Amino acid sequence: MPESADSISGLCERVLRGNWQEGRTRDGVEFAYTSPNVRHYPWQWYWDSCFAAIGWRHFEPARSERELRSLLAAQRPDGFIGHTIFWEKPLRGARWFTYNITRRDARMTSSIQPPALAWAWQLAVGDPASVPEFGHHHDWLEQHRDLDGDGLIWIVQPDESGLDASPQFDPIWGWRAHGMPGFVGLVRRNRRLGFDLRRIVAAGGPACAEIATNVLYSLSRTALGRPSLTQVLLDRCYDERRGLFVPLTRPGTQAPIPVTWAALAPLALPDLPEEIGRRMVEEHLLDPQQFWLPAGIPSVARSEPTFQVADRGLLFGRPARYWRGPVWINSTWLLWRGLVRLGYGEAAAELSNRVVQTVARNGLREYYEPFTGAGLGQREFAWSALVMEMLEPDVARR
Ligand code: GLC
Repeated sequence: MPESADSISGLCERVLRGNWQEGRTRDGVEFAYTSPNVRHYPWQWYWDSCFAAIGWRHFEPARSERELRSLLAAQRPDGFIGHTIFWEKPLRGARWFTYNITRRDARMTSSIQPPALAWAWQLAVGDPASVPEFGHHHDWLEQHRDLDGDGLIWIVQPDESGLDASPQFDPIWGWRAHGMPGFVGLVRRNRRLGFDLRRIVAAGGPACAEIATNVLYSLSRTALGRPSLTQVLLDRCYDERRGLFVPLTRPGTQAPIPVTWAALAPLALPDLPEEIGRRMVEEHLLDPQQFWLPAGIPSVARSEPTFQVADRGLLFGRPARYWRGPVWINSTWLLWRGLVRLGYGEAAAELSNRVVQTVARNGLREYYEPFTGAGLGQREFAWSALVMEMLEPDVARR
């Protein structure tokens, strides 16, 4: 297993190169992307590609651009870009029941993933405002996913957040949550409604203005020169009593929403008022009873009854229910950026050290046990190469 910074960098580069896919569809569209994992996740996932592009800037920036242009190549004429693009490997078999597609031969899902694309372009490539497709993509999101006209976007499936089975969705989707028996029925119902937010809300929902999704969306908006969503997140989602953010739901829920890393995701917003950020850091992020755990930041606060150290499924350990406690590198990195921005230099260095140790001992896994750092999920997982952002902050500051 790698130990030094050099060997971590070597490992990240090897995984990114090993997962790289490129080619041309039968109708001549060129694609090039990093699959999250070659066997288990062969297709192009929207937010995975954004994170992989940021990883590529440490090794071969030209690939960052090709990766993100490939998402643009999948864009529909109306501006929509799906959560997963299948390119020349069509979806087959049982995945029909759990993937958000409307036809068996669909080229991509009809669902979204957190719109991090324009922000990733800004970090890894250049000015997204000079590429009209980004604005067109955001116009689609504004027209189709902004339920209340205040800028926040709403999701119609828990997996649209990228945080599939996160316990924040338990009170919202209940037995229809990701990995639960009713999930297949949710996909079937939303498929019938064309994954159209307004039709789904009219049919009783549920829909959710999820925090992490809106944070990434806001970062992309500001990258494009559009207004930030920080103030509307503060007005509508900030729980002043607890000092963290809570998603909006339609219909409303009675049960409290468990505290997950998403409640702290606004730390990644550069225009979050400093006193609010400091309170989130000091009362939640740095608390060993909640988020400050040895392997990195857990996806769920340790103090939550739903917190678990590994993602167990319902039957015989399968299918896995992701985001119920283990550490993921992308979310840890987003929160680490908040620590750096707010001047918590020592804590940021300590967190980076913890993550580097976790990766050094266990490789680039999909996610990690939060106390021991034991690797879980897929191996050779692309976005875990974001560890490079914490290892080489100078590249990251460019
Ligand atoms: C899982 C993750 C999701 C990711 C996908 C591909 O479904 O929850 O965030 O995009 O795998 O890596």
